[in-house]
Amino acid sequence: MEPIIKARGLVKRYGDLTAVAGIDFEVARGECFGLLGPNGAGKTTTVHMLCCVLPITAGDIEVCGLSARESPRLIKAMLGVCPQESNLDTDFSVVHNLVSHARCFDLPKAEARRRAEALVDRFRLRDKAGVCVDDLSGGLRKRLLVARTLVNDPAIVLLDEPTTGLDPQSRHQIWDEVRAMKAAGVTVILTTHYMEEAQLLCDRLVIVDQGRIIESGAPQALIAKHLGGQGTLEDMFLKLTGRQLRE
Ligand SMILES: Nc1ncnc2c1ncn2[C@@H]1O[C@H](COP(=O)(O)OP(=O)(O)OP(=O)(O)O)[C@@H](O)[C@H]1O
Ligand SMILES: [Mg+2]
Repeated sequence: MEPIIKARGLVKRYGDLTAVAGIDFEVARGECFGLLGPNGAGKTTTVHMLCCVLPITAGDIEVCGLSARESPRLIKAMLGVCPQESNLDTDFSVVHNLVSHARCFDLPKAEARRRAEALVDRFRLRDKAGVCVDDLSGGLRKRLLVARTLVNDPAIVLLDEPTTGLDPQSRHQIWDEVRAMKAAGVTVILTTHYMEEAQLLCDRLVIVDQGRIIESGAPQALIAKHLGGQGTLEDMFLKLTGRQLRE
């Protein structure tokens, strides 16, 4: 089957700094694809180019055969994005955030409202529906950010560190949501520092270090290849680079 996402020779430079140094990857429709790597590896930069909010220095990304350079609006309409840093409207209530985000995709008001209410229930935010984002805990904000990704019924969801800072229970809830997205046929791109999370959720992943892909494959296959099947992706990163994935 034709990949839903293809990145070819992708480069991002910020002045003298090369954040993404020519990476290639493909994502199959319906898979959960991981971007793993230490702080500053270039994961968020890659995600930002994929969701067409950051100009590409060289190379290209295709989504459903459309170039990110040429068709950013069409691509954005197919994506749900959970950014690493919250960009929720802090003065708005939970439900208002969902409705106003849905309206950005030109959904009629009644449909926007219907989807927002359904997501409030699905993500167990009912008792907070009228609460201002300013008054939510960090974990609830993350949950709302993940809920918001689904408001436009996207084919592809990008989750940039969706569980960072969450307690184990909240993390497990997000994992269940990722599994539900996959079960519904949604393609998921996940960046994470948590190797356990990547091992549990990702069908395939790339390990990114200093803007380059240093290894790629299915988590268990990579552990088999580098560690004889015994160990974790963290151990593998240490073996490949001589550095810890997390300081
Ligand atoms: N707007 C910017 N201007 C200049 N440099 C930037 C900018 N954004 C990111 N960088 C640099 O690009 C490199 C890659 O950053 P990026 O945020 O993509 O890493 P990351 O893998 O997402 O890291 P983290 O795990 O900490 O989120 C880093 O060296 C970072 O300092
Ligand atoms: Mg990042």
